[in-house]
Amino acid sequence: MDKLKHLIKTRRSIRRFKNKNVPGKILLEIIETGIHAPSGLNNQPWKFQFITEPGLKKIISGFTLSRYSKIICEAPALILVYLDEQKIYNRDKDLMSAGACIENMLLHIHSKKLGAVWLGEILNKKKMLQKILDREKNLDLAAVIAVGYPDEKPKHPGRRNVSSFLLRG
Ligand SMILES: Cc1cc2nc3c(=O)[nH]c(=O)nc-3n(C[C@H](O)[C@H](O)[C@H](O)COP(=O)(O)O)c2cc1C
Repeated sequence: MDKLKHLIKTRRSIRRFKNKNVPGKILLEIIETGIHAPSGLNNQPWKFQFITEPGLKKIISGFTLSRYSKIICEAPALILVYLDEQKIYNRDKDLMSAGACIENMLLHIHSKKLGAVWLGEILNKKKMLQKILDREKNLDLAAVIAVGYPDEKPKHPGRRNVSSFLLRG
């Protein structure tokens, strides 16, 4: 199998991490790979924030109070991905651009033998979360990525057969 296909197919969501910090240089490389994603009109509508400080992770995890709180607390690093209201031009397209950026990041993370999970559920508490993070009003939280060194090898959750997605025409 070619390398890229192998990387895409073997990436898994990782929810358990070793107690080992991810160096800042690697976190920057992850973002650097993300921003090479395509975006409508090349508007690059994203901004990022790293959270590694245990106290802040604990506050966020307690505050989001979901079954994902443990992941937030235990992940050595969180990468928050925001849409920059000053850059956006079409919310649907800008969110798709952010999704492309996130997938680039997830693949880079996997290629470096790190692991990550895209946390979407946390957006249910977005308003409150933005308050604690004291973000400027012109940033809109789009996703939280928990990153670290994997402490699990999850089974492939499976995908439906390609033919099941094809419309007959
Ligand atoms: C938009 C989006 C939101 C997600 N939200 C969560 C989440 O809140 N918590 C979680 O544990 N996983 C979340 N995931 C990860 C999915 O559960 C995971 O990608 C899916 O089960 C397939 O597993 P795989 O990533 O190992 O292929 C999310 C993934 C996406 C793309």
